[in-house]
Amino acid sequence: MRVILICATTLDGFIARDSNEITKWTKDLRLFKKQTIGSTVIVGSKTYKTIQKELKNRNIVVINRNSDPTRILNKLKETEDKCFVAGGGKTNLKFIKYITDLYLTPHPLIFGDGVGLFDKAKIELNIELKKTIKVKGVDNLIQYQYIVNNIQNPEY
Ligand SMILES: NC(=O)c1ccc[n+]([C@@H]2O[C@H](COP(=O)([O-])OP(=O)(O)OC[C@H]3O[C@@H](n4cnc5c(N)ncnc54)[C@H](OP(=O)(O)O)[C@@H]3O)[C@@H](O)[C@H]2O)c1
Repeated sequence: MRVILICATTLDGFIARDSNEITKWTKDLRLFKKQTIGSTVIVGSKTYKTIQKELKNRNIVVINRNSDPTRILNKLKETEDKCFVAGGGKTNLKFIKYITDLYLTPHPLIFGDGVGLFDKAKIELNIELKKTIKVKGVDNLIQYQYIVNNIQNPEY
């Protein structure tokens, strides 16, 4: 099963200014909806509070600190060939060793600080660009689709 991390980021790798921010700056919501419709989308409890409305018509799995990613994915893979992990940073980190693809849309913003793509973890991934998609209706916004070859950090 493909486990696709999908996220909007700033140019310096943040996904929100802080954990409670409702990310109104993202301009790729239409693409997110199109790509995830009909699929399972895994989100953290914080993120769920910020984007519930946007997640209709998807099988949403809301996780918390006690959730076991292995169990969740083993169950899903009985019936699905792909699922999405859609943040936030703590949730992305929880699923890191299972992520097969990254769909990232860098936005022309710099925050300097905030919630990192993988929270505050020092992650090194070996990735390969497979495809780019222009975000319709937004000038110069591109989603980059990468395949994850492996994680460099053995602790993850
Ligand atoms: N730019 C984007 O595309 C994008 C996408 C998604 C989210 N976001 C933003 O990301 C932010 C939320 O990210 P986040 O990383 O703070 O939250 P999150 O991943 O959505 O949720 C927090 C997760 O971490 C768990 N947790 C909290 N404290 C913990 C601890 N001490 N030890 C272990 N697990 C713990 C929570 O469980 P409990 O419920 O048990 O506390 C929950 O599962 C929001 O501002 C959201 O808008 C942006």
